[in-house]
Amino acid sequence: MSATYRFTVNGRPAEVQGPPMARLLDVLRRDLGLTGSKEGCGEGECGACTVLLGGEAVCSCLVPLFQVEGASITTIEGIAPSDKVTELQRVFANEGGAQCGACTPGMIVTLKALLDRHPTPTREQVREYASGTLCRCTGYERIFRAIEVLTGQRSSECEPEGGPRS
Ligand code: FES
Ligand code: FES
Repeated sequence: MSATYRFTVNGRPAEVQGPPMARLLDVLRRDLGLTGSKEGCGEGECGACTVLLGGEAVCSCLVPLFQVEGASITTIEGIAPSDKVTELQRVFANEGGAQCGACTPGMIVTLKALLDRHPTPTREQVREYASGTLCRCTGYERIFRAIEVLTGQRSSECEPEGGPRS
């Protein structure tokens, strides 16, 4: 049985018709054309599909459509509107946090949730958040380093001469 659900995605109203148990991940990718959220495991284990639901990082492959009625969702496309990169994305890339890129959209969304809650997170807090997103390439060290550079807890070994670009 199909029904109409209304919610907000990246600050814009969305209206989707579908079965109540349709996966949010499919709704985003198929119905709304937001393909930045990836499918990895489809079982809530890898974090590739992470979005913010009411500011909380969730695996969109586990969220049924009926649960998002009236909710506010942010996807990777909404993290950096208007084709600009955020400082988080710039430093993340600069410090080598993105390698093959498979985990990157989910990781960036997760780290945004972390920084919204803990503007100067400890390594333990970064570890706790990042552990929800499986990264096979970086060993996580470069991700920890990126957050520490971003939050001024260490200096970059990769910044171009003259410091960060504005
Ligand atoms: S695809 Fe959703 S957690 Fe892996
Ligand atoms: S950069 Fe390859 S899985 Fe994370």
